[in-house]
Amino acid sequence: MYGVIMAGGGGTRFWPLSRANTPKQFLNITGEDTMINDTIKRIKSIVPTDKIIIVTNKIQKKMLSKVIQEDIPEANVLAEPVGRNTAACIGYAAMVIKKRCGDAVMGVFPSDHYIKDADEFQRVLNAAYSIAENTEKLVTIGINPTFPSTGYGYIKYDRERSIPAEGKIAYEVVDFVEKPNLAKAKEYLKNGNYLWNSGMFAWKASVILENFERFLPKLYRGLLELEPFIDTPKEKTVVEEIYPALQSISIDYGVMERSDKVVVIPGDFGWSDVGSWDSLGEVFPLDENGNITRGDFIAIDTRNSIIYSNSRLVAAVGLENMIVVETNDALLVCPKEKAQDVKKVVEQLKEMG
Ligand code: GDD
Ligand code: MG
Repeated sequence: MYGVIMAGGGGTRFWPLSRANTPKQFLNITGEDTMINDTIKRIKSIVPTDKIIIVTNKIQKKMLSKVIQEDIPEANVLAEPVGRNTAACIGYAAMVIKKRCGDAVMGVFPSDHYIKDADEFQRVLNAAYSIAENTEKLVTIGINPTFPSTGYGYIKYDRERSIPAEGKIAYEVVDFVEKPNLAKAKEYLKNGNYLWNSGMFAWKASVILENFERFLPKLYRGLLELEPFIDTPKEKTVVEEIYPALQSISIDYGVMERSDKVVVIPGDFGWSDVGSWDSLGEVFPLDENGNITRGDFIAIDTRNSIIYSNSRLVAAVGLENMIVVETNDALLVCPKEKAQDVKKVVEQLKEMG
């Protein structure tokens, strides 16, 4: 059994705490450990560390070796020369697994999520691995939606068609909609037969590769070109050649929306993808004024706000539903309802060079 951790994203909505050289997975947002270390710790009771594969990029690979506390073999840290989104990342890892051991079940995990109840998470994950092992299904873990988020995938499932597994139940998926608009998200929330896609999956390497062949044939051909060179001295050079031309698409749009072989296991373990500043309320308790604060601050007549100070005293007077984040070299001030747009700051910074 393998575990593939996707760790190539930038976490741009967490600017200015996440920067090009400290993306979200390297941050300690929850106060315990970095998100990537938390991810490894959560899965290592099920997947031995020599079967954990981390897919990242060249710059982050160097940082990873400093941050990661677990003993993950160097050959298990795959470095993409350029990000080509999650389908390519998963495809590369699946090819590595195929090359190393013919076929095996692989779990796929984002590197930057918060999970409150690790024990319950492990029970759900066990069930997911078991179904992936015994069927040709694409297994995803679903979360009960609590608000009409437009940043998640929505999974419609059939309560009548289920597969029991290890004390949990998986349901056949009838529809998978990635990041719907607000009207659709509201409709799905009301419907009651939808779950959020947690972005965590389990399947056999052979099964996901068959799905690539069917739904993303060009990407699949690129991966086939790569296969002979995996775990050879030429791997790095060939990856550098092939990767930039790979189709850039997420696994959700590329495979999950299109396949009719998807099942979902509902998971209830206290989950947040800590996607943006306004989601911190899912992780931290609020103070008596509904605020979340860190560092050196004074808050007067301030409610439902997030105040993060790193190096200087931050004083807030009369704020409501605001985000203020201070770091050594940057300051963010943003209404909570615009929290998703923080990534636009990073886009502009990139344009400015
Ligand atoms: N190696 C690598 N390369 N990793 C990547 C790349 C890439 O090109 N792009 C993204 N990742 C990593 C991110 O670091 C993150 O851990 C994970 O893959 C998911 O990517 P996101 O970019 O965070 O996806 P999302 O949040 O927009 O949407 C996904 O997750 C949601 C739940 O949080 C989808 O699966 C949604 O359907 C789902 O609801
Ligand atoms: Mg995400």
